[in-house]
Amino acid sequence: MKTLEFDYKNVLGFVGENEILSMEAKANSARRELLEKTGAGNDFVDWVDWPIKITSDEVDRIKKCASRLRKNGKYLVVIGIGGSYLGAKAGLEMLDEYFVDSEFEVVFAGNSFSSTYSKQLLKFLADKDFSAVVISKSGTTTESAIAFRLIKELLLEKYADYSERIVAITTNHDSALHTMACKEGYEEFFIPDGIGGRYSVLTAVGLLPLAYKGYDIYEILKGSKDAYERFSKTPFLENEALLYASVRNALYDLGKETEILAFYEPKLRYIGEWWKQLYGESEGKDGKGLFPASVIYSTDLHSLGQYVQDGKRNLFETVVEIENPEEDLLIKSDDSNLDKLNYLAGKSLNYVNSQAMKGTIIAHVNGEVPNILIKVKEISCYTFGYMVYFFMFACGVSGYLLGVNPFNQNGVEAYKKKMFELLGKPKN
Ligand code: PA5
Repeated sequence: MKTLEFDYKNVLGFVGENEILSMEAKANSARRELLEKTGAGNDFVDWVDWPIKITSDEVDRIKKCASRLRKNGKYLVVIGIGGSYLGAKAGLEMLDEYFVDSEFEVVFAGNSFSSTYSKQLLKFLADKDFSAVVISKSGTTTESAIAFRLIKELLLEKYADYSERIVAITTNHDSALHTMACKEGYEEFFIPDGIGGRYSVLTAVGLLPLAYKGYDIYEILKGSKDAYERFSKTPFLENEALLYASVRNALYDLGKETEILAFYEPKLRYIGEWWKQLYGESEGKDGKGLFPASVIYSTDLHSLGQYVQDGKRNLFETVVEIENPEEDLLIKSDDSNLDKLNYLAGKSLNYVNSQAMKGTIIAHVNGEVPNILIKVKEISCYTFGYMVYFFMFACGVSGYLLGVNPFNQNGVEAYKKKMFELLGKPKN
């Protein structure tokens, strides 16, 4: 199979094929605006050709830095919030084996104000050897700045060479973090000005933590480069990203205003979290936008399944299926059959999972929940790079189809303004 396949047959009972086909011209024009950098927010679209622009010098420096940090100890603390951590977290959760005591571990900080989390993290790190990567494009985000102050204090206490254990990933101007890095001599990586936080997973922001854990970042970039080649050139009807953007907009116009991204593999939970930020921040503005939600099935069929089947009919689902799961196991026959499961004897758990998926899709479509199916070939560094690029490219096109600027996030400032007033932050 291809790396990623797109199937919208279970949408066609709700939106006519002609309606989707009629979106071709608009989708092509949105793609052209993205590629030629002429659309709204065009000063933030350098992620589009980033997979072919990132230099091997930059990738090698990321790898070298990761090896250096590995010499400092088993743990890397990645400090950041939103786009400054979700991509790395999504990649690690997708690629890590369950239940393995790894040689190297990445832990996250600075993605909330929880005092309990911070205190217990500091307690955990007190007798461990660790380094820290602090990631903030603006270099001023409060959650990550507080966490960095706390972690730095511990590093200072523990190590004379503490500045060798800190790497900063930020912008090279107007950033308190950059000023600190210059003054204190941390190694630095710069996030290009034209790449916003939620589109930065394929820069050092996502790649350094993944390289630290030992993943092949060249393979990740190869996946994203192949995705760029495909989605930037392939005609509408065969272009999975253009079709996804068009179909979700057609459903939105029909009043299906909530999109539920569903996975049948718990390892993809954080792909869902990353996707929610990507789509929520890119499209939720000017009083418009699909509300992005995510679920893990069959787990959440036992919690949200009732609502999806029977609640307000303003939903559609996008299921991401892993075509070739990493592992499988057979259900054996049991002589007593007290659990009455012998009808499954000889069947594999993957078979059961895929029948659960097929049955759920039929039931939900019958319950008036249109379904998009995205099939991803397997779990690998390559497919991670391919899939994140697919979602980013489709998001840019989708935002343009919706008529918003998918690359700003002015709404995020409102809570900060009120919070700073309450905290008594000086105006300058
Ligand atoms: O997409 C975005 O720009 C934001 O969600 C940021 O990723 C998030 O707010 C963190 O910002 P920063 O990297 O400046 O600390």
